[in-house]
Amino acid sequence: MELPDLYRKVAFISKKDTKRALDQFTIENRWKENASIIDIGSGDGSTTKTILEKYASPSYTKIVGCDISSKMVKYANAHFGSERIKFIQCDIVQLLPQFLKGEFDHAFSFYVLQRIQQQKAAFSFIYDCLKDGGSCLLVFLGRYPVYDVYRTLARKAKWAEDLKDVETFISPYHDSQNPMNVVRNIMDSIGFKGIEVNVFDETHTYDDANTFKCLVKAINPFNALNERWDEFMQDYFEVASNNAVKIDYQVIVAYGSK
Ligand SMILES: C[S@@+](CC[C@H](N)C(=O)[O-])C[C@H]1O[C@@H](n2cnc3c(N)ncnc32)[C@H](O)[C@@H]1O
Repeated sequence: MELPDLYRKVAFISKKDTKRALDQFTIENRWKENASIIDIGSGDGSTTKTILEKYASPSYTKIVGCDISSKMVKYANAHFGSERIKFIQCDIVQLLPQFLKGEFDHAFSFYVLQRIQQQKAAFSFIYDCLKDGGSCLLVFLGRYPVYDVYRTLARKAKWAEDLKDVETFISPYHDSQNPMNVVRNIMDSIGFKGIEVNVFDETHTYDDANTFKCLVKAINPFNALNERWDEFMQDYFEVASNNAVKIDYQVIVAYGSK
C-alpha cells in the first residue's frame, strides 16, 4: 500500500469508524491534558491531522505518527506535518526504539492491526510505548469480504503466482469465531489493564464501482498485480458479482491502559 494520494481520497470506511471510536473515547472522558500522543500506522497522515488532532485536548504536547512505509511518512510530513505533529518511519513488529519507550499518554492505531500477522509483537510495541497510566485505542478490521475475493482469485492459476502470499494480507481475525476473546487474551497476556474489546457488524455501500476499485488499488499490497490491474479488477468483479460495492464487514475496537 504505497499510494498515499489515492488512499486519502477513498478511505471512507476507516475515517467513519475512527470518528465513532473517538466519539466514544471522548464521551468516556479518556483524554489527558498535556498529552503526548502516538498514531501507529499513520499512513498518509490525513486521519492524524484532520481527525485525531481535532479530538485531542488542545493542550496536547506532541503527536508522533509512525508508519513502516517511507513513502507514506514523506507524504504525511509534507502535507500534514507541523510544529507539534511529526511523522517517522517505524515497523511495529520490531522492537520499540529506545526513544519511544514509555513516551506516550495515548497510543492510537486506526485500520492497521488487520495487516499484521505477528499480533503479540504489535500489541507489545503499543504497550511499551505507553507511560504508566497511559492508554490505547485501537480500531481494526475483523471479517472483510475483499479478503474472500483475493483468496478465491489466489486459487486460480492465472493469479496464483502474484497472490502466493495472500494469507499475509488477510486479517488474523477474518476467520475468527470469537475475535473479542482472542484480542482480549493477547492484551491480557501482555499486561494491559481495564481492557475493553467490542466487535461491530457494519455495512458500507460505495457510490460507484470506480470509487471501490480505487480503494482496492490503494490497499492492495501485491505490487506484481499493478501491471495487469484492469484485468485483475475485471476478475475481481466477476467473483464478487453484484455485491462488490456493498461491503458487510466487522470492525474491532479495543481499549486498554498500562
Ligand atoms: C490502511 S492504512 C491506515 C492508515 C491510517 N491509520 C488511516 O486510518 O487512514 C494502514 C497503514 O499501516 C501501515 N503499516 C502496515 N504494517 C505496518 C507495520 N508493521 N508497522 C508500521 N506501520 C505499518 C501501512 O504502511 C499503512 O500506511
